[in-house]
Amino acid sequence: MKSIVVWGFPTRVVFGAGAVSETGAALPGSKHALIVTDAGVKGAGLIAPVVGALEKAGIAHTIYDGVKGNPTEAHVDEGLTAYREAEADCVVAVGGGSPMDAAKVIAMRVNHHRPLADYDDATGGDRYVTEPVPPIIAVPTTAGTGSEVGRAGVVTVASTGRKTVIFHPSLLPRTAILDPALTKGLPAHITAATGYDALTHCLEALVANGDHPMCDGIAIEGIKLVRRALVRAVTRGDDLDARGDMMKAAMMGAVAFQKGLGACHSLAHPLGSQCDLHHGLANAICLPEVVRFNLEAAEARYAEVAGILGGTADAARCADDLAALREEVGLAASLKAAGLDEVPLDALADEAIEDGCHRANPRPCTRADLRGLYERVS
Ligand SMILES: [Fe+2]
Repeated sequence: MKSIVVWGFPTRVVFGAGAVSETGAALPGSKHALIVTDAGVKGAGLIAPVVGALEKAGIAHTIYDGVKGNPTEAHVDEGLTAYREAEADCVVAVGGGSPMDAAKVIAMRVNHHRPLADYDDATGGDRYVTEPVPPIIAVPTTAGTGSEVGRAGVVTVASTGRKTVIFHPSLLPRTAILDPALTKGLPAHITAATGYDALTHCLEALVANGDHPMCDGIAIEGIKLVRRALVRAVTRGDDLDARGDMMKAAMMGAVAFQKGLGACHSLAHPLGSQCDLHHGLANAICLPEVVRFNLEAAEARYAEVAGILGGTADAARCADDLAALREEVGLAASLKAAGLDEVPLDALADEAIEDGCHRANPRPCTRADLRGLYERVS
């Protein structure tokens, strides 16, 4: 026994086709909800069922739909203004990772007034989150980030220009509403890329350093769900069972990565910020090479995963199984194939080594290791 560890899975999850109708019932005592979303989600008609559910519960609503990809402090300020003008008392996030991140920080801002950079988790900013945060309900419309069960909001702070993680248990949504019918209209390439992100969360969490048997069990089950459902969800978008399994896998991946992530996410984050590559696609391109790099450090785990993905529990096959699944769902196998002919290897490696995710990687990484991995996936 080397240390004391803490395990907890506190989010209430309401799952099923039509679950969105429970949104209002998840907010007992609330009178006015601020719905935080983006124009794409609104344009896809996914707000109407949320509004209907709130009305059924006697809850008024105001919509803030100004969030864009990679949300900024300006989005948070606009959302906060809408919250105050409406005299809202709760926040309902509807969409993918960006609206959910923005919604959490908007809710935090209601009673926390220091400069936003002060709340940066990297500098211990969670110590300033001391006041009540209004209830947050998360209604995801993609199956990937799992932000609906996460306690972090990521926004770019105006004064620093940096993507900043704000992390505190009170940012955790009170209830996550997982309604697979809301993901039926997602295009195949987004389904594939977001689904591969969920797979990467499960796999990196499974092999991450740390003692967390509950996360390990959830990660394994999440990988089984991806194996069963991802190809179907990509090729037959209206298959509600497959869509539901992918929503579960995404949620479980994010629960599992409480344990930590790994080198693949440290490689993927700079590809997002410097090359504007989709996060899930970046993971898909990097994951098989990261598994090859890690192989000896987590052989038993990779053998188990190879058994699930390819039917043969041989660690040496795990990377190939992952590459085969990537191909089957139509994702690019290299940066070049994704349209990035020239990548700034040194700048990417500089950012990747600063990223915290690889600290949980089962094999320690140097900057040269990460640069070498970028070269191999170029
Ligand atoms: Fe991710």
